[in-house]
Amino acid sequence: MKKIAILASGSGSNAENIANYFKESDYAQVSFIIANNPEAYVLERAKRLGIESAVVSKSEFMEADNVISMLKERDIDFIVLAGFLLLVPQKLIAAYPGRIVNIHPALLPKHGGKGMYGDRVHKAVVECGDTESGITIHIIDEHYDKGTTCFQAKCPVLPTDTPDDVAAKVHALEYEHFPHVIDEILHNLD
Ligand code: GRF
Repeated sequence: MKKIAILASGSGSNAENIANYFKESDYAQVSFIIANNPEAYVLERAKRLGIESAVVSKSEFMEADNVISMLKERDIDFIVLAGFLLLVPQKLIAAYPGRIVNIHPALLPKHGGKGMYGDRVHKAVVECGDTESGITIHIIDEHYDKGTTCFQAKCPVLPTDTPDDVAAKVHALEYEHFPHVIDEILHNLD
């Protein structure tokens, strides 16, 4: 059984969706959730799902050694960033090469980079007059929102759409595709 850890900073609706998807799997499971914010609602979801969770401070995360030990002690094979706002340090990437995937709520390379997360992304899409948005799922490197793109899906953006409208369409794409794409990546590993 492959073991997945999810890193999240906020609500964690993607984390819950992914955990539920893999509940049905005899191949992989979400066995650990890490949040960098003790108030993150993802911790409530973890409790409800019966998944072990931990909170790490920003400095502890950036220093990486403790986090790597926590992950290795639990035999974690693969890491999913689902609404996780910190830049992943090189040490952690080196400990999990090609095994850390992120979802970005827009069509990279547009609307990515430092500070481009959550509603800010959807606001930028509307302000630019884009006619489409979507999701990008990518294996990360040491830069915000770079690395190897594995999957993109698009949704239309209407001239009347607000950032909240775009967010709703993008969330629907995330829930539909992210678990399947993770499943596929896992099957292609080693
Ligand atoms: C998602 O839109 C994700 O793409 C972005 O942050 C949001 C997190 O939502 N990176 P949730 O915490 O999974 O509900």
